[in-house]
Amino acid sequence: MPKAELHIHIEGTLEPEMVFELAARNNVALPYASVDHLRAAHAFADLSHFLDLYYACMAVLRTEDDFADLAAVYLRKAASQGVTHAEIFFDPQAHTSRGVDLGVVVRGLRRGLDTASAETRVHADLIACFLRDRPVSEALDTLDALEPFFGSLIGVGLDSAEVGFPPGQFAPVFDRAREAGLHVVAHAGEEGPAQYIWEALDVLGIERVDHGVRALEDPALLRRLATDRIPLTTCPLSNVRLRGVEKLSDHPLLDLLDAGLVVTINSDDPAYFGGYVGDAFVEARRELDLSDEQLRAIAQYSFDASFTTS
Ligand code: ADE
Ligand code: ZN
Repeated sequence: MPKAELHIHIEGTLEPEMVFELAARNNVALPYASVDHLRAAHAFADLSHFLDLYYACMAVLRTEDDFADLAAVYLRKAASQGVTHAEIFFDPQAHTSRGVDLGVVVRGLRRGLDTASAETRVHADLIACFLRDRPVSEALDTLDALEPFFGSLIGVGLDSAEVGFPPGQFAPVFDRAREAGLHVVAHAGEEGPAQYIWEALDVLGIERVDHGVRALEDPALLRRLATDRIPLTTCPLSNVRLRGVEKLSDHPLLDLLDAGLVVTINSDDPAYFGGYVGDAFVEARRELDLSDEQLRAIAQYSFDASFTTS
């Protein structure tokens, strides 16, 4: 089934095999003896436990070719799972803080996407995310540094550890991004409370909520999201792996749909969470007993909610 993927972190597509390949290419020492040892570490207690490994593995990404390879491999995989359009997150600060030049990151990702797009006909856009557990001043500096690359971006987002990092403090960053004509999204209500979703909507002016599953705790918020048709980019496999829900059959996707929300299914960090977006559709269908009509609606919502195909 053709679909758009709207919530995918390119660094979260770094499969253990590629970690080892790039570590060898760049002479980076790894604290894991083998691919199997690294894969065995993919058992997470919560979001911040996952993020520790996610940021550690990125240390192997050094050169423009590394970023190009990562992006091209992802887009080919996405194409094989029925994706025809992808809006892809990356974390500039996770690379610049390690001394990798921002141009290396953006040029590499864009080149890899262009190469794979030409082969697969999958359209791919980039969204730069700010790390919410880093200072606002660093996000502002990062936005400045991104300015020469605005032509390569469709938007900005907000990610990383959520609880204790309310989104509202990033208002100056998001104001400037909106003034520059960029789309704005934010992770909210993944582990954090419904209040963070309100704040992301009202203070940051976001156009989509990434995750947003905790909106279910607030009926007034559900009405707002439904009335304004603000899409949610949910990631059911991620919520299971990061223990937001115990098992996929407990996932609140159907409750969100029943509340009238524009709900999409996405993969988040597929190299870490056991599946790409096509796998997420298949598993959600099986475990949540989704009808063909519901699946078609979710796939259609992914195009309705996209920034460049609607
Ligand atoms: N960065 C990568 N994956 C993330 C997630 N699921 N939540 C917040 N930040 C992330
Ligand atoms: Zn995410």
